[in-house]
Parts: sequence; C-alpha cells; structure tokens
Amino acid sequence: MLTVNDIATLRAHTARARGAQKSIALVATMGNLHEGHIELIRRARHCADYVVASIFVNPLQFGPDEDFATYPRTLEADRQQLEQAGCDLLFCPSVEAMYPNGKDAQARVSVPGVSWGLCGGARPGHFDGMATIVCKLLNMVQPDSALFGEKDYQQLAVIRAMVSGLDMPVTIIGVPTRRASDGLALSSRNGYLTEQERMQAPLLYGYLQQIAASIVDRGQVDQHLIDDCAQRIRQAGFQLEYLEVRNAINLSPILEGATKLAVLVAARLGKTRLIDNVTMALAGNR
Ligand code: PAF
Repeated sequence: MLTVNDIATLRAHTARARGAQKSIALVATMGNLHEGHIELIRRARHCADYVVASIFVNPLQFGPDEDFATYPRTLEADRQQLEQAGCDLLFCPSVEAMYPNGKDAQARVSVPGVSWGLCGGARPGHFDGMATIVCKLLNMVQPDSALFGEKDYQQLAVIRAMVSGLDMPVTIIGVPTRRASDGLALSSRNGYLTEQERMQAPLLYGYLQQIAASIVDRGQVDQHLIDDCAQRIRQAGFQLEYLEVRNAINLSPILEGATKLAVLVAARLGKTRLIDNVTMALAGNR
C-alpha cells in the first residue's frame, strides 16, 4: 500500500489506475479505524480494482467546543489495518495541504434541506464542513464509487443529495452499521466512554429496535412510545438531543407516503456524543 500526503501525487496515482482501465473506490475516514471502517474497505475491494482510503481529521466539520484537538489520531495502527484489508493507496494530507488559503477562505458546499435539523441542528456548520471535504476528496480521487457507513445516516443522506444536486459522476454506496455483540454501533468516539458508560451505551439501540418493531407491527408511528423511550433514555443518564422518526429517503419529518422510515437518535453520555439509527421498509406504502 502506498501512503501519499500531497494532492499532486494522489492525482498522479489515481490517473495511472484510471489509465490502466481500473475502477476506483474511495473510503473517506478521519482515522482511528475500527471494524466498521475495515468493512468499508473490504466492500470497496469487491466493487473496484483500485481502493483509495483517506485519513483526514477535518477541522471544518468540528464546532469550536468540539473534540477536533483531542480526536484520536492513530495513524500507524490505521495504516497496518488498511494494508491488511487490501487498500491500495492511503491519502493522509495535512490541514495546510487541504486548506492552503486557510479555513476562512475555503469555498464551501452547502446542502439545504437534508442537512437541517437532527445532527445539523445540534452541530451548526458540521454538514457544510463535511460536504466540503467529501466534495474535495471526490474531485481529487475521481472514484467510480465511494462508500460510507449507515451509522452516520444523515451524513450519508447529505452526501447523496450533494452528489445528485451537483451532478457528480460517482456512485455512493451505503454500508450497514457494524455493531459490538451487545448492539452498540462501532464508532471512533466509543473510546471516550468510561467502563460504566460503555455498559449503558447499548440501551440506545435497544430503544431504537423497540420503536422500529412497533412501527412494523402497527403500520404507524406511536408517538407515546417515542416519548416514553425518550424519557427512559434521559432517566438512564443520557442527555438526549433527538429521538425522531423520519422519511428514510429524504429525512423529511413528513411520513405520509414514505416507503422507508428511519428512527434516529443522538445523545450524550458523559463527554461522548453517540448517534445511531434503525431503518425499516413499510409494506403498505410500496
Ligand atoms: O464520517 C467521517 O469519518 C467523516 O465525516 C468523513 C466522511 C470522512 C468526512 O470528514
């Protein structure tokens, strides 16, 4: 596996792969890789001839009070995992390489609608910063496909809307969330949890499953059950940001006519922000 830090060298290698008629897949990450990321690489390996991974802790998508400075940076361990999983090229640029004129002068991508509310409400500017870096990476690598985890469900929806709205020639592939054996969605931020919090954290997934099962059983959303789950989440010591059912395709709160729904949650436990979701197809509306 090649490791590349600058954009010109990255472009030279991807152009060579393209010239050799190889299809290219991109897996963009912020590092501190876990089994969920490695699953993205494995899937990328299946759908493309040349796999590019990026590791870049993107300052543009962190708020002023967020964990940019302390975000775990584990480059050597990440590099080994990527190599074992069959990645061809790792791109890990510096902040200066990505934003040579500084963050404030950086042109930005904004995706209205789907980025509003949910995590977009709790983290102002986050999705503009995320969409901007993903757009830049897609322009640099020019992959045939790019793979993203479904744990960051709104992120995936924002990326799909950006690619469609800007006519970007790339196929976006969503990959199901990898979970620990107790149901907790794998995340680089789980490492912030204390032992006690780690035992409590899977509660969120339990409530998501309960709400999803009730929707499937009754064919409709039971707002009393959602309010009750929200209360129980708070009583368990979480600071709940949202627990909502949305149209899974466009994240609209209007559920009438939706063929697929998503139950989404974000909550803080101590200093860790956890997000998760469960989706379900609705038989009656197909
Ligand atoms: O999901 C992430 O790790 C990041 O938001 C991404 C997509 C790599 C952009 O920085």
